[in-house]
Amino acid sequence: MARQQGPSPQLKRSQEAASYAVPAIVAALALVALGRIAAPLLRGQVEQLLPALQRRHMPTASSSGQWSSAEVVQTAAEWKQKPGSAFTAPVSRCSIAADGEVQLRTPNTELPFLFNLSSEALPSKAQSCGHCDAPVGDACNITRLPHTCCGVCQFDSRFCSRLYKGEGRSEAAAQQLLAAGFPLHDFTPCELFQRIRGRTLWFVGDSQTWHFYYALECFLREFAPSLRRSDPVPAPHMPVLATARQMYCKKWWPVPPECLELAHGTRVCIVRADTAGEMVRAVLPTLMEHVPGFQHDLMVYNTGLHYQEFDGNCTSTGVCEVPGPGSKYLQELEELGAFRAANRGSLPATVWMDTPPQHFPGTGYYVGEFHADCVPWKAWQRGDALARGGGMWNVAARPYLDQLADAHLRTWNASVPLWDSHMPDECTHWCQPSAYHLWLLLLNDVMRQSGIGGRVLVEPAAPRPQLRRRPAQQLEGV
Ligand SMILES: *[C@@H]1O[C@H](CO)[C@@H](O)[C@H](O)[C@H]1NC(C)=O
Ligand SMILES: *[C@@H]1O[C@H](CO)[C@@H](O)[C@H](O)[C@H]1NC(C)=O
Ligand SMILES: *[C@@H]1O[C@H](CO)[C@@H](O)[C@H](O)[C@H]1NC(C)=O
Ligand SMILES: *[C@@H]1O[C@H](CO)[C@@H](O)[C@H](O)[C@H]1NC(C)=O
Repeated sequence: MARQQGPSPQLKRSQEAASYAVPAIVAALALVALGRIAAPLLRGQVEQLLPALQRRHMPTASSSGQWSSAEVVQTAAEWKQKPGSAFTAPVSRCSIAADGEVQLRTPNTELPFLFNLSSEALPSKAQSCGHCDAPVGDACNITRLPHTCCGVCQFDSRFCSRLYKGEGRSEAAAQQLLAAGFPLHDFTPCELFQRIRGRTLWFVGDSQTWHFYYALECFLREFAPSLRRSDPVPAPHMPVLATARQMYCKKWWPVPPECLELAHGTRVCIVRADTAGEMVRAVLPTLMEHVPGFQHDLMVYNTGLHYQEFDGNCTSTGVCEVPGPGSKYLQELEELGAFRAANRGSLPATVWMDTPPQHFPGTGYYVGEFHADCVPWKAWQRGDALARGGGMWNVAARPYLDQLADAHLRTWNASVPLWDSHMPDECTHWCQPSAYHLWLLLLNDVMRQSGIGGRVLVEPAAPRPQLRRRPAQQLEGV
C-alpha cells in the first residue's frame, strides 16, 4: 500500500469549523502561556477550552448521528474489515464518512493529487510487483505480458517525467488545464470511489482506453486492499476476452483483461477490444454470461482509431473524410447499437467515450507513418466545423450515440490542446499524467450529471493556503 503521511486529519463538517480551529488553537496556546503565570485564575478557562478543541479534532455528530461513533481507518484492508468506519485515504487525505459523505481534503501540495505521480506519492515497484513470480520483470524471458501480473501505478513506464527528463510536460499540462478552469485540485479519489462503490467499473476499448484505465486504477489505489490484480472471469473464459495482440520483445502476445479489487465489493477492470465487432462477438456476451450482476455495473467504452486500416479515407496530404454509410466503422457501430437494444436488461449503465484526437504532422490524423514531431490542431484552432465537431471518427459516430450509451464522455475539445505530451515516438498515446488523468475528471462529471453510479454528497474543501483559484463548490443535492 501507499505510504502513510502525517496524522489523521480532522473530519470537519464545515468550513466554519476550520476557520474557528486556528484562532481557538492560538487562543489556547496564549492561555496556556498565561496559565504559567496566573495558573489558579485561568485554569478554569483552559479546562473549558480543551473539550471544545477536542470536539473539533474528533468526528462530530452529523444529523444522521453516524459520525460520532465512527472510528476512522486509514487503510483499505482495515476498512474492509470495519465497513462501519469512516475512511481517510492515506496519501490523498480525502475522507469518506460512515454515512458515505465525501470530505475533500485541504490540498496543500502544489500539484493536484490527480496529477501527482511522483515517487513519494506512488506505491513502489516492490509494492506493486512484489507478488509477481519471476520471470515477468523487464527481461524478455517471459511466458506472458509482464503487466498481466504486475503494474498498478507502473503505467508501463510511460511517465512524462522519465521520458522527458526535467521538461515538466505534465506540470505544464496541469497548469494549462487549471488555467482553462478544470478544478483538478477539487477532484478526489474518495468522490470517484463513492460513485462506483459496490460495482465494477468496466473500461472496454483499444490501447487508448487501456492507458486511460491505468490512470483510473492508480487514482483509486488507496482503496485497494491489495495491489495484486485479478481476472474478471473464470480462467477458462479468459482467452475469449483476449481479442487483441500486443507486440512485446519482438513477439505478439494476447492481451487478457485485468481488474483491481477495491474495498466493499467495488472493482475496476479493463478489457481490450479494438473494434465494435469484437465487443459484440466476444466481449459483451462473455461478460453477460460469466460476470454475476454485470447488469448493475458501469461501463465506459470507445472504438474508432483501429478502423483507420479499413476506413482511413485520407489523402496523401492527410486530409481525412468522415467514414460514410458503407464504412466498416458505421456498420459495426450499428451492430453494437442493435446488440445493446436487444440485451438492454443484461448490460450495465454505459458511457460512450469520444475517440481521442491525434496530433500527427499535417491534419493531426495518423495516415500510416509514425512521427515524433507532434503538432497542434490548426483546423480546430481556426474553428473548422469538422475539427470542432470531434474529427472524422466522432462526427461519424454521433448519430449512433443514443443507441450506444446512456451518456457521452466528451473528451475531444479538452484533449485537442494537449498536443505536447504524447509519447516520444508517436502522436497518439500520451505520457502520464496528461490527457488520461483529465478524462477521469470528465468521467466523474458526466457520471454525476447523468445520474450514472451512486449519488455522492461532497463537502467543499477548506480554502487552500496558496490559492490559484477559488475552490469550486461541488455540493450536490441530497
Ligand atoms: C506529491 O505528493 C507527495 C506525497 O503526498 C508530496 O509529498 C509532494 O509534495 C507532492 N508533489 C507536488 C509537486 O505537489
Ligand atoms: C527463462 O525462464 C525459465 C523459467 O524461469 C528458466 O528455466 C530459464 O532458464 C530461463 N531462460 C533464460 C535464457 O534465462
Ligand atoms: C471515402 O470517401 C469517398 C468520397 O468522399 C466516399 O464516397 C466514400 O464513401 C468514403 N469511403 C468510406 C469507406 O467511408
Ligand atoms: C467542441 O466545442 C464546440 C464549441 O466550441 C462545440 O460546438 C462542439 O460540439 C464541441 N465538440 C465536441 C466533439 O464535443
